[in-house]
Amino acid sequence: MKKIKRIGIITAGGDSPGLNAAIRGVGKAALSHGDMEIVAFRDGYRGLAEDLRMRLDKKALAGILTVGGTILGTSRDKPHRMEINGELRDMTDAIAATYKRHKLHALVCIGGGGTHKNALRLMEKGLNIITLPKTIDNDVALTDSTIGFDTALGIATEAIDRLHSTAHSHHRIVIAEIMGHRAGWLALGAGIAGGADVILIPEIPYDVRKIASAIRRRSQHGTNFSIVAVAEGAMPVEDAAEFAAAKRRKDNAKTRDAKKRAKAELAALDARHAGSTMRLAKHLEELTHLEARVSILGYVQRGGTPSAGDRLLATRLGTKCVELIQEGVFGVMVAARGEDTKPVPIAEVAGNLKTVPTDHSWIESARRVGTSFGN
Ligand code: F6P
Repeated sequence: MKKIKRIGIITAGGDSPGLNAAIRGVGKAALSHGDMEIVAFRDGYRGLAEDLRMRLDKKALAGILTVGGTILGTSRDKPHRMEINGELRDMTDAIAATYKRHKLHALVCIGGGGTHKNALRLMEKGLNIITLPKTIDNDVALTDSTIGFDTALGIATEAIDRLHSTAHSHHRIVIAEIMGHRAGWLALGAGIAGGADVILIPEIPYDVRKIASAIRRRSQHGTNFSIVAVAEGAMPVEDAAEFAAAKRRKDNAKTRDAKKRAKAELAALDARHAGSTMRLAKHLEELTHLEARVSILGYVQRGGTPSAGDRLLATRLGTKCVELIQEGVFGVMVAARGEDTKPVPIAEVAGNLKTVPTDHSWIESARRVGTSFGN
């Protein structure tokens, strides 16, 4: 009689299309082995801390391939600083206790950058961890792509397509604000696919006067409307310099007080950054004498059924994850590499944000079709 391997699974961080396809990939592959059982926990790391167990059998896995969001629920809770009854507590040991109580052989964590940093903390407690890269931001290091990115790319591109109507009908500048946190992958990809005239990403701080010149040049050549795809993390040169300096102070802080002060400074800069897209629109109106309007795409980009690409990616990574568990390979993320997958150390993924290199081929392609990056 083979010993049953009990595999824990959570989804953590922001929800994204394809999460349920990944849960299905892990679950169906595990159950097909005959010596594996899935033990699911709700709402990310909180479900492990509070032992919020959820049944995940064949019945629960049926029909979820095409369903958006995550049937397990998720949260951004961190094991080491979790709000319990109004106070922040380190719940890492509680999570390790849950892992042991359920006699887990391994724990699968599906998430983005934050999830990987937290997975590393649990590895250091001796848990067998294996992760899958998930985020619409596509900013997880060492993997070609992340679950959710392809769907969000399609949603944002379709939104830009639709925004062309108002732009050319009213001779307006229409600005689409696109998610991506501190990386520009989504805005860059959707901006190119949607034919945006200007693409603004965090990796290339912009000068609003250069954006206005590009728009005025279009008017001078008889096209009196423009589409601007702006990543939510994009900022003007002066703000980017301030942000970089504050980040350096935080990274180099030697004392708790210095770290606290730098964190507060960054929070204040983040708060001031909110609303920057509206300010950009107003500034462009002043400089170009064209009307400008803003559409913040927001959570629509994370909603609904996953694209075929994300279903394929999620199934590939989820099933490979189970194969690695069978082989006793832990402490790794299942990375997408071309048409294949590759296990990469979580220690090399955690804390390693994948931003757009400024010489990336996508940027070159966009410039070659006349797109302005505001620099
Ligand atoms: O990480 C995915 C993401 O959608 C980012 O693009 C965005 O900045 C963030 O999540 C929003 O976080 P929340 O869902 O916690 O509001």
